[in-house]
Amino acid sequence: MTSHRFRFPEGFHWGAATSAYQIEGSPLADGAGPSIWQRFAHTPGMMANGDTGDIACDHYRRYRDDVQLMRALGLQGYRFSINWARVLPEGTGRVNPKGLDFYSRLVDELLENGIVPNATLFHWDLPTALDDRGGWLNRDIAHWFADYAAVMFKALDDRVPRWTTLNEPWVVTDGGYLHGLLAPGHRNKYEAPIAAHNLMRASGAGIQAYRAHGNHEVGVVFNIEPKYPHSQSAEDLAATRRAHAYMNQQFADPALLGSYPPELKEIFGDAWPEFPHDDFKLMQQPVDFVGINYYTRAVVKHDAEAFPLKASSVFQPNATYTETGWEVFEQGLIDTLTWFKNRYGNVPLYITENGSAFYDPPEAENGELDDPLRATYLRKHLVALHQAIEAGVNLKGYYAWSLMDNLEWSLGFSKRFGLYHVDFATQKRTAKTSAKLYATVIESNGEALAAD
Ligand code: BGC
Repeated sequence: MTSHRFRFPEGFHWGAATSAYQIEGSPLADGAGPSIWQRFAHTPGMMANGDTGDIACDHYRRYRDDVQLMRALGLQGYRFSINWARVLPEGTGRVNPKGLDFYSRLVDELLENGIVPNATLFHWDLPTALDDRGGWLNRDIAHWFADYAAVMFKALDDRVPRWTTLNEPWVVTDGGYLHGLLAPGHRNKYEAPIAAHNLMRASGAGIQAYRAHGNHEVGVVFNIEPKYPHSQSAEDLAATRRAHAYMNQQFADPALLGSYPPELKEIFGDAWPEFPHDDFKLMQQPVDFVGINYYTRAVVKHDAEAFPLKASSVFQPNATYTETGWEVFEQGLIDTLTWFKNRYGNVPLYITENGSAFYDPPEAENGELDDPLRATYLRKHLVALHQAIEAGVNLKGYYAWSLMDNLEWSLGFSKRFGLYHVDFATQKRTAKTSAKLYATVIESNGEALAAD
């Protein structure tokens, strides 16, 4: 049974997302330069089970088949990222035509199958050649990024109508420069704010390049994780405020308001520099949309030992947790979208990632690969999204994370987020129950969410 109850607005855009290093494989093929993820994954001890992106989903060679998987779901949009070092092996200067051609062929294949491409310029795989010159710590990276972006806009903007500068800059700095769990693996409180600042300068410079070379839409993607206080004590409330500023405002505030929240100085102390005033003009470029990646929330308490926030998360005893240890909390999606609108105004929004890692049976039984927990997660979050739209949020579309199981960064292949199951030994893809649910939701523009 279906009902009109969950029908989404006309033109609501249904998609799925992936990123280059997580799915492509063949990282050095056809003249590509190495990225920091190639280097990190080949550094002993950095990746779970010694996994690497050498093969991943072999999408570089199987992209045509993968576009058919998208088509089978009825996807209207596909969000993918471009590996900078495939196109510019040294990060700047010389273009590698074969690398560029891969993305051009992918875009053509998508369009031939009626799927709108949404390209992200940076999903964490910085060329090693640029890391060797300081990477995100070097102020010149804003220009390196804008030059790379211009190459891509000139080559593909005739066919790609939606562009993203950066995916989740917070993860790059928190994982890559502060705690060292992600590439480039630094652990330095003094570097993290500088990397963060240069990421947003680069995003601004990339948006400026788009205004010079592009004719459609450009935006930026943030991960937002709402923070709720564990108690009303002054200490817990202050910890919650710090956690929120650090994760949710550190990047969105300069991009959309042209300033940093004062809590960052409180958190970083002497490691928080005075940034040149003019930088804020570069960072605050008008965007056509903002993408929000939403997975979970945190309930926060004061914790004097926790670096750098003096705050930690409190386990919720009655909740469901995913395999990455994230609480399933769909109300947080509504709260996130509402908060974003209230703080930053009515900019068009997309959910550019949302999904869950759960244990899956290793193979299909009677042709079915049943993933009830992921399907429930998907359904609950789409219902929440519908509520948020009814409450007046300017939401244009949704991209499920992820089209298929892939390399979950330093957790390797152990965590599966896919709508399609991937057998990494054979590269066989199998639709999970969640994929089938998503296909019916797309086909009915949400109405199928009412069915049991
Ligand atoms: C990232 C993805 C990642 C996903 C699940 C996001 O932080 O953009 O690349 O796989 O979350 O952890």
